[in-house]
Amino acid sequence: MPFAKEETTLAGPRFPQHRSPVLGVRWRPAEAGVYGLMRFFVHSPPSALESAPMSDYPSFKARREFLRFLAASPYVAAAGGLGAFLRLPAVSAQNGAGASADVITEAAAALNVFDFEEAAHRKVAAGHWAYMASGVDDDATLRANREIFKRVQLRPRRLHDATLVDTRVDLFGTVYNSPIFLCPTGGERAFFTDGELAVARAARARGTLQCLSTMTSTPIEDVNKALGRPVWYQLYAPSKWEACEKLLRRVEAAGSTVVLLTVDNTTGRNSETYRRARPKDLSQCASCHTGPGEPPGPVAERAMFKGIDMTGVRAPNPAMDWVFVDQLRKFWRGKLIIKGIDTHEDARMAIEHGFDGILVSNHGGRATETLRSTLEALPEVVGEAGNRIPVFVDGGFRRGTDAFKALALGAKAVGVGRPFLWGLGAFGQAGVDRIIEILQGELKLVMGNCGTRTVADINRSYIATPDWKL
Ligand SMILES: Cc1cc2nc3c(=O)[nH]c(=O)nc-3n(C[C@H](O)[C@H](O)[C@H](O)COP(=O)(O)O)c2cc1C
Repeated sequence: MPFAKEETTLAGPRFPQHRSPVLGVRWRPAEAGVYGLMRFFVHSPPSALESAPMSDYPSFKARREFLRFLAASPYVAAAGGLGAFLRLPAVSAQNGAGASADVITEAAAALNVFDFEEAAHRKVAAGHWAYMASGVDDDATLRANREIFKRVQLRPRRLHDATLVDTRVDLFGTVYNSPIFLCPTGGERAFFTDGELAVARAARARGTLQCLSTMTSTPIEDVNKALGRPVWYQLYAPSKWEACEKLLRRVEAAGSTVVLLTVDNTTGRNSETYRRARPKDLSQCASCHTGPGEPPGPVAERAMFKGIDMTGVRAPNPAMDWVFVDQLRKFWRGKLIIKGIDTHEDARMAIEHGFDGILVSNHGGRATETLRSTLEALPEVVGEAGNRIPVFVDGGFRRGTDAFKALALGAKAVGVGRPFLWGLGAFGQAGVDRIIEILQGELKLVMGNCGTRTVADINRSYIATPDWKL
């Protein structure tokens, strides 16, 4: 089991109490708000009028002592040492302007999804955090996914009975409480002991669609049981067809009928932020996955490849092309969605090759650098698909208004990735549950404010894009 030891490592290290030389009291770094203290000590230089050597001043001595204390802390060691510890906040690229300055200590205290980010940051192993937060190269695609929302404004219509708002949607015959779904993300046990099971229980309670990654750390059978209905299964196609077939037979036997073929991350990637921010000492990672590479570790060790001969097999397959798609389409009798389409040309190809749906995605800015945001790519894909097949979208969605804008541009449903991982890392099931509750609540609010009673009522007339010609 690649995650065999993670109960002790990944649920957050058990921090012994420390005696602080500065505070003179016993305290636990995580509970005592170590970041706040650290910020105070690092960012409070003496007045410019002081003339003695800075190092002689009591505040500097205290600071030096405090930094020494930090260096000896197991929490800091878990973050990869003092240097990595001091740099950690910079890894977090997603902070919303509205995130609370106080770090929440329970899920119920969160006002928005950003409130979970720092809470999770403090609990998740440093290498896993860096892996999740990272984009590629300079993280430009990652940022683009967020920045676009500022350039789309709402055009509300007034005096429609907002008590009647209904956020439910029907996706391939199953009705969900809202069009906001949970994206497939590999190895969710890297963020919380129960990983995919905690996500499933929250999704079940909130009537939410859950997608499961090929790189799941929990078998699909267990996740479907916890969810109480089948997940949509995300496929990283193995390079050997026999392996692909075996994998899909298992998915079918587990009751899942919808497969998402990911096509935007087949060639490898340059996850610079991850590589810079992860701890130099990866021994902590070795306790949950082998090899120095990116989590969640080698493909052959993943839960879904048990019993499949993966010798010499790559997943995803870098040689994958439309010929493979035809073979897959012939084999898979259920619904097939293509994940990672960003242009109308490929949307046309996808329809011609028999896909039942398109997910506009750039892998959350984790695959190709300097792309457009997915929201900008969405209209041309919707234009091509027309009413023939549904179009979904993910990438950077953090607010109900973000989701509303994509629905206005023709998306059938909207996926979130990192936000539910923040919830998971911070508080397990309760965190994911609150994330969904917040997003569903925000969507309902904006629908009511804009005068749209149902999801189907939302259309382009409800948005303006002054510097962006649709
Ligand atoms: C930690 C992490 C792991 C991911 N793993 C997968 C995966 O295994 N398969 C996949 O198709 N997409 C994967 N994705 C991409 C998501 O499915 C989704 O496209 C993306 O997270 C959406 O962007 P957002 O994180 O900004 O919401 C992953 C994303 C993250 C953050």
